[in-house]
Amino acid sequence: NKCDIGFVGLGVMGKNLVLNLADNGYKIAAFDLDSEKVEAAIEQDVLETNKQTPRVIGCSSYTELLSKLKTPHLIVLSVPAGEVVDQVCQNLIGAGIQPDDIVIDTGNSLWTDTVKRESNYQDNFIFFSSAVSGGEVGARFGPALMPSGSAYAWTRVKPIWSAIAAKVDSVTGKPIERTEPGQIVVDGEPCADYIGPAGSGHYVKMVHNGIEYADMQMICEAYHVLREGLQFSCDDIADIFSQWNEGVLDSYLMGISVEVLRHKDPETGSHLVDLILDQAGQKGTGLWTAVSSLEVGCPAPTISQAVYARSISAFKTLRQQTSKTLSAPHVESYSDTQKQELVSQLHDALYCAKICAYAQGFQLMKLASVEQNWQLNFASIAKIWRSGCIIRAAFLQSITDAFERDDKLENLLLDSFFSEQLSKYQQNWRYAVAKATMMGIPIGAISASLSYYDSMRSAVLPANLLQGQRDYFGAHTFKRVDKPATQKFHVQWTSPGRPIEQV
Ligand code: 6PG
Repeated sequence: NKCDIGFVGLGVMGKNLVLNLADNGYKIAAFDLDSEKVEAAIEQDVLETNKQTPRVIGCSSYTELLSKLKTPHLIVLSVPAGEVVDQVCQNLIGAGIQPDDIVIDTGNSLWTDTVKRESNYQDNFIFFSSAVSGGEVGARFGPALMPSGSAYAWTRVKPIWSAIAAKVDSVTGKPIERTEPGQIVVDGEPCADYIGPAGSGHYVKMVHNGIEYADMQMICEAYHVLREGLQFSCDDIADIFSQWNEGVLDSYLMGISVEVLRHKDPETGSHLVDLILDQAGQKGTGLWTAVSSLEVGCPAPTISQAVYARSISAFKTLRQQTSKTLSAPHVESYSDTQKQELVSQLHDALYCAKICAYAQGFQLMKLASVEQNWQLNFASIAKIWRSGCIIRAAFLQSITDAFERDDKLENLLLDSFFSEQLSKYQQNWRYAVAKATMMGIPIGAISASLSYYDSMRSAVLPANLLQGQRDYFGAHTFKRVDKPATQKFHVQWTSPGRPIEQV
């Protein structure tokens, strides 16, 4: 009569994961420092199932939690990333957790913390991790899961994770809907697969979030051009986005943007989005992605720009001051035909910019995988992201196909499908960026993607001059296009005519 899984942390994500596990037939022993949260989870379980016997058993201590579980114990943590994870691990050690017990961290932990934890706790228990994406609804009805760590632990976790994950149709790649409590989906491919050694799953989730930041920011930039530049109403923009959501831009984030734009404030009757303060929050995963891209030496300018855009938004008072003193461009008025033309150019710009943001994210994971020897499988990662997660989109099937065509693909821009798409739409992308710039509307992420595209397709870049500058002030040497790549040179730049030294 013992429980299958112990669960620590019954916040919104935790409670929904518990109910999802219970729907799939697992009996849960649950603990939270706040006992009201445990009671709320049990109440919701009883309410949803109309059963007197709950599928979730409340516990009031870590010792009680362990005593209620089958052995070896399997414990899932849904607690805030950072110190709390270690506090919970220490409490579990105090309560008598055993070396063959498994603890799964499902929070947005920093991947290097996960690597340390696996080794720090190896004498006490198996520290396994599985990043979760999909917000509260995903947690309840099928998230995307990115497990990593001990391969043995994965053999025990896999059936459970496969059951609770979002599923896609194995032929079409389309998500299989699951929206009702008690409903389960047994067919289809689960959006959960083993990512690799400890830390790799959290790294992949971190990059997922970096791409999420980029995706969200680019949609916001398109909205900004339509709202401020073309003076469209929120409902007009919702109609445009809704149409875009039918084609190549079909995505969860586009869909929720339509709903946010249509939502009315019950008190004032105004569109709520017009009343929301324009200061973005962030918990850190986008920043970690940008930092990692700089450390690994992999360009991810769209993702970094999306993080900067959130930072700039935070300077509300400063922006209010400068808005009174800094000049705006003179803007020509647009006819209805010109407006429609810009709408379709923006659509193509968003699509191309999105391809580049994903190209950056996937190349970053590739370089990190080589550096850490993770052997990541990119087709499998793209498959996991097809449903359940925040960046789920029809587009992820095209990325899956690209990596299935070539599992060694260095960058998505080299894939035949994506390079054709970019060639087809790049001209409109340029018009959109140019027109937004002439209107004085910041379009940093979409234009960072365009610069990335133009840099990546340039056989020649101005780094020749840069190498000259470095050699001028620091004797940093340079290579020559007309000499073997093994040779380095230095010049006395202030003495023209002096022979060039080979160093
Ligand atoms: C997800 C989300 C989720 C969350 C992040 C981002 O995949 O379910 O990415 O993890 O929304 O914490 O939050 P911030 O925008 O606050 O950084």
